[in-house]
Amino acid sequence: MTDEKTLRERMVATCRKMNETGINQGTAGNLSVRYGEGFLITPSSLPYDTMVPEDLVMMYWDGTYDGRRPSSEWRFHRDILKARTDVNVVLHCHSLFATSVACHHRTIPAFHYMVGVMGGTTLRCARYATFGTQALSDAAIEALEDRMACLLGQHGQISLGTTLEGALWMAVEVETLARMYQQALVLGEPPVLSDEEMARVIAQMKRMSYGLGPEEEGSNDVARPRAS
Ligand code: 13P
Repeated sequence: MTDEKTLRERMVATCRKMNETGINQGTAGNLSVRYGEGFLITPSSLPYDTMVPEDLVMMYWDGTYDGRRPSSEWRFHRDILKARTDVNVVLHCHSLFATSVACHHRTIPAFHYMVGVMGGTTLRCARYATFGTQALSDAAIEALEDRMACLLGQHGQISLGTTLEGALWMAVEVETLARMYQQALVLGEPPVLSDEEMARVIAQMKRMSYGLGPEEEGSNDVARPRAS
């Protein structure tokens, strides 16, 4: 298990990458990682370029915390990490294209096979609720059922991961898909892949550990490392 100091440093690095990739700006966005008796979370309203590892807040499942004031969205971070034992990282941001689609309360259909990487045939959009409320957390939990990401109506996106790298990768994929979807809509509503095809896509992704990085075990069909 990563020690707390290293984890805090890696969280700060991930936050900076959120800005570098363009999915985050200003003091929007927040990040949490399961740790010890609860989770570490970014503080509220602190720009990532000036944030240091000590600024990250240790929060417990009962909503108490040590350190600075936690992100206003600590409820959905806590509730997702509690409900979803399959994930360790929750990333939230107001990335431009994902948020633009979410402003129309649109669920993104399987217009492109990469929707499958989020775990199903749709990238759902959670109903609107005021930021920082239990109502928003409840809506997010619903939209994330069997999914690794969702849009938040008139707000932004949430991406999940087992690792920091995975959650960041997912958030960039969500943003890319939303951008593609908007571009495709310029020519009219695009056709949608069938549920049968999406089942094949998702099975193929699982078999190949698609998008999980080269270190993950998984086949790549007939491709194999050359014997040295
Ligand atoms: P915090 O700075 O409190 O994390 O809020 C940013 C945000 O994105 C609210 O949804």
